[in-house]
Amino acid sequence: MFNPVFKRSVILFIALVSFIVCTAQIKTIDQRVDSVLKLMTLEEKAGQMNQYNGPWAATGPLTNDNNLLSQIKDGKVGSMLNVTGVARTKELQQLAMQSRLKIPLLFGQDVIHGYRTIFPIPLGEAASWDIPAMEQSARIAATEAAAVGVHWTFAPMVDIARDPRWGRVMEGAGEDPYLGSLIATARVKGFQGKGFGNTDGLMACAKHFAAYGAAVGGRDYNSVDMSLRQLHEVYLPPFKAAAEAGAATFMNSFNDLNGIPATGNKYLQRDILKGEWKFKGFVVSDWGSVGEMINHGFSKDNYEAAMQAVNAGSDMDMESRSYIKHLAALVKEGKVKMNVIDDAVRRILKKKFEMGLFDDPYKYSNEEREKAQWNNAEHIKVARDISRKSIVLLKNEKQLLPLSKQTKKIALIGPFAKAKADNNGFWSYDWPDDTARISSLWEGVQRKLSAASEIVYAKGCNINDSSTAGFTEAVAVAKEADIVIISVGEARDMSGEAKSRSNIHLPGVQEKLIKAVMNAGKPVVVLISAGRPLIFNWTADNAPAILYTWWLGTEAGNAIADVLFGDYNPSGKLPMTFPRTEGQIPIYYNHYNTGRPAKNDSDLHYVSAFTDLPNSPKFPFGYGLSYTKFDYSNIRLSKAQFKPGEKIEAMVTVHNNGNYDGEEVVQLYIRDITGSVVRPVKELKGFQKITLKKGETKEVRFTISVNDLRFYNDKLQYIYEPGQFKLFIGGSSNDVKEVNFQLTK
Ligand code: GLC
Repeated sequence: MFNPVFKRSVILFIALVSFIVCTAQIKTIDQRVDSVLKLMTLEEKAGQMNQYNGPWAATGPLTNDNNLLSQIKDGKVGSMLNVTGVARTKELQQLAMQSRLKIPLLFGQDVIHGYRTIFPIPLGEAASWDIPAMEQSARIAATEAAAVGVHWTFAPMVDIARDPRWGRVMEGAGEDPYLGSLIATARVKGFQGKGFGNTDGLMACAKHFAAYGAAVGGRDYNSVDMSLRQLHEVYLPPFKAAAEAGAATFMNSFNDLNGIPATGNKYLQRDILKGEWKFKGFVVSDWGSVGEMINHGFSKDNYEAAMQAVNAGSDMDMESRSYIKHLAALVKEGKVKMNVIDDAVRRILKKKFEMGLFDDPYKYSNEEREKAQWNNAEHIKVARDISRKSIVLLKNEKQLLPLSKQTKKIALIGPFAKAKADNNGFWSYDWPDDTARISSLWEGVQRKLSAASEIVYAKGCNINDSSTAGFTEAVAVAKEADIVIISVGEARDMSGEAKSRSNIHLPGVQEKLIKAVMNAGKPVVVLISAGRPLIFNWTADNAPAILYTWWLGTEAGNAIADVLFGDYNPSGKLPMTFPRTEGQIPIYYNHYNTGRPAKNDSDLHYVSAFTDLPNSPKFPFGYGLSYTKFDYSNIRLSKAQFKPGEKIEAMVTVHNNGNYDGEEVVQLYIRDITGSVVRPVKELKGFQKITLKKGETKEVRFTISVNDLRFYNDKLQYIYEPGQFKLFIGGSSNDVKEVNFQLTK
C-alpha cells in the first residue's frame, strides 16, 4: 500500500506534532501556574504552604484553632485533611472561593487500604505477593474516596520495617526492598489511575520519607541512625520506585536521621528526592513535624523550624502552623529566599491545576458519584478475593484443613470469632452500617455450612485482659464439637501509629485459652488476626493448623471461610520474618553472613547466635503453605558464567504433587559471595505467582542481568562486581534449590 519511507515520514510528522502540542500543553499549565504566582502576595504564598486538619475528625494531636474557617476565606490555607463527603468538601471549597485569588483547596485523607470498602491492611495484602491485585485494591480505594471529594491520599506508606515491635509495620509491605518497591509502584499507579484530573483518581503520597521504619527499638517516632549505604540499599528503593511511578507527593517522617530530623533534612529532600531523582511533586510534612523539630533539639523555636524545614525542601506544613506564622517574616528578614517559597508554591499550584481544580473547584464533590460508589458490589467481590489471597497458611498437620462443609458440629471460640470493626484495622473508617456490612468469621462460617451442621460459640476470653472466667464454657463447647476453630489476635488499636509494643506475644490470656481448649482433645484450627507478626510459640508448636489472617477488612469473615472450607486454596507468603522472641529482633532474611555464621539451630557456640534459643526465626520471610504440595526440581542456568552485557536464564521445574489446584509464589534469591563490601546471604531478585492444577508441572524461568547484581559500595556508587554468585529458587527464603554462576569481567 504505502511505501515504508512515506509511512515512516507520516509517523514522524504525527510524533512531532503531538510533541509540540504536548509541550504546549505542559507549558500551558506552567504558564497558568506562573500567572497565578505573579498575583500572589507573600502571605498568600505562605497560605498555600499551610495545611490544617478539618474540624470534624483528627489523626494527630489537635491544636484548637477557632478561626480556621476565616483563614480559608482569607487565602491562608492551601489544603485541608480529614475532610470528606460532598457536603463538607463543598462547604470548605466555597469558603476558599471567597478568597481574593480563589485558589482551590486540596483535600487530603489517609486512604490507606480502602475507604468505604476496607481491604486487608497493606502488610496483609503484601502477603498475597499479587502485584496486580494490590494495584486494583488501591484503584478501588481511590474511586471510592475521590467520589466523596477527596483529592489526595497520604498513601502508600512504603517504609521498610524489620522490627515488628513497631506498630506501623501494618501499613507497609514488610522487610524486603525488592518486594516493597514493586508494591510501592503498584499502589501509586492504583491510587493515581489514569492520571491527575480523572475523578476516579487520587494524588498519591509516598511516606514517610525516610527510614521511619528503622526507629531504634521499634519505638515509634524514635531516632534512626544508619550508614548512607544501608539507607540507599534497604530503605530508599521503595521511595525511588514511588517517585519513578509518578507519585504526586511525598510526606516526610517524624524521625531524625543521622542527627537531622527528616523534615529539616536537605540531603533527603533536596539532594536525593528533588535533585538526584528529579522529583517534580511537592513534599508535605507529617503532622506537626515542622514544629516538632524544637523537641528534637534541632530548632530553637517555630520561626527557626519554619526556616530549616522550607530551606530543606518541605513544601507544605501539616498542622504545625509554623509556615503561616513565620514564612513572611523569614523572607522579609532574608532568612528564606523568595525563590524557595516560589518553588514550593509552584509545586503545589501545579498539582491543583493538574487535578483540574482551577477549572472546577467542585469537580470531585459530586452527589451522583458519591451515591454510586457508596455500596459498590463489585468492590466487595474484589475485596473478598484479595482478602483470601492475603491469608497465610502457617501449619496444616495431617491435612486437617480444608474442613468439610458437612461437618456436623463446629465450635467457634475466641474474642475474634464474632469481631466486626476489629477486622478493619487501625487506618480505616467506621460507618454506621458496619455491623451489617463487615462479615465476621461467625457469619462467614455459617454461610458455608450445610443446614444439617451446627455452630456452637464461646468467646472464651477478651483480647487483652487476664480474665480466664470464660475458659470453662469454651472447653465445654469444644468438647461437644467435631472441630474447633479458635479465632484470636490483636484489637485494631494494638498496631498502627503510636502503637509500638515491647511484648508482641498473643495478647492477654489468648494462648492460655488455646491450651485449655486443646486439652478438650478435639482437632483445633487457630486463626490469628493481627497488624504485625506476633509471637505464639506454644500454639505454633502444638496446634495442628494455623492461618494468619491479618486484618482483612470488610470481607474478612467470608474470605477466611473460603479458605477454611477449601473454596480457596491459601497462597499467601510472609512479607516479614516472624521472631521467636522479642529478644531476636531485629531478625530478617537478607542479613550479612558475619565472620562466624551459625550453620544451624543447634550450633550455638562461638558463632553469631543466641545461646538460649534456636537461631532461626519462628517463620521466615517468604514462607507460606498450601493445601497442596509443590515440589521443586531441576534448577539450572542457561550458562554458568556471563559477562556484564549478557544475560542468563534460571529455570526450575515446579510440580503440584498434591490433591488441590493451587497458586505458588516461586521466589528467586541471589547471593554475591564476595564483594568490596559484605553482601547479604540472600536477596530477593524476582518472583512469579503461578497456578498449577493438581498433578500439573510447569517450568518457571527468570532472566538475570548485571542489574540484578548491583549494590551500593562504600563510595555510594551503585555498581556490580565480577565474581562468584549463588542463585536460589524456592517457595520460601529458607526452602530453596541452589545453583552457582560467575560474572566475569
Ligand atoms: C499521622 C501519620 C501520617 C498521616 C498523617 C495525617 O501522624 O504519621 O502517616 O498521613 O498524620 O493523618
